[in-house]
Amino acid sequence: MKEIRLALATRNRGKVREIREALRELPLQLLTSEDFPEWPVPEEKGSTFEENALEKAESLARFSGMPSLADDSGLEVEALGGAPGVSSAHYAGRHGDDAANIARLLEEMEGITGEGRRARFVCVLALAGPRGEKLLVREACEGRIAEEPRGEGGFGYDPVFVPRGSSLTMAELDLEEKNSLSHRGRALRRLRELLEKGEPDWLFSSPE
Ligand code: IMP
Repeated sequence: MKEIRLALATRNRGKVREIREALRELPLQLLTSEDFPEWPVPEEKGSTFEENALEKAESLARFSGMPSLADDSGLEVEALGGAPGVSSAHYAGRHGDDAANIARLLEEMEGITGEGRRARFVCVLALAGPRGEKLLVREACEGRIAEEPRGEGGFGYDPVFVPRGSSLTMAELDLEEKNSLSHRGRALRRLRELLEKGEPDWLFSSPE
């Protein structure tokens, strides 16, 4: 199988590491946005994870002229009508302030008990080709919101997310355990299965 060049449309080093690990030993040469320092990362303006992931992947595919992969993810809480959803990273105002986001979430959920604390992490991967080709993969991880933060691992809402079937929060699991059940781990495994089968066609038949 010929080696395919694939550009990763993220400046988040944690995501780059997880993607590299999940796609290792495939005939892929992974480039990162550091290989395209002039690429203007698009703002996430969409109302769905799919729109935001596609926007990032298509933008880098156009800029670089090569197939590109992006991820968009977040937390959906049933009792909050799916919030924080696509606003997960800046729920409390400032982008990426994990402690403030958790504090706001626990505040919004005060008095909500039992089934009302059900939630899911969602991850959408978008693969885009330079000629407008696209592929989307969506995966979720079901669970519930804990009453208070526990654990030091992971990032984002991990200290308050308890995956279904576990009594520990995501932040109390080691990375391998987290990846085995997380939304991003699942989505990357599905993408890997497709790539191993030589899909999507357009990726493997492109002149790049
Ligand atoms: P984005 O995909 O970079 O827009 O970020 C999505 C936001 O969702 C992150 O900043 C986190 O707050 C949250 N999030 C996404 N994935 C995870 C995860 O695996 N654990 C905890 N929080 C996450």
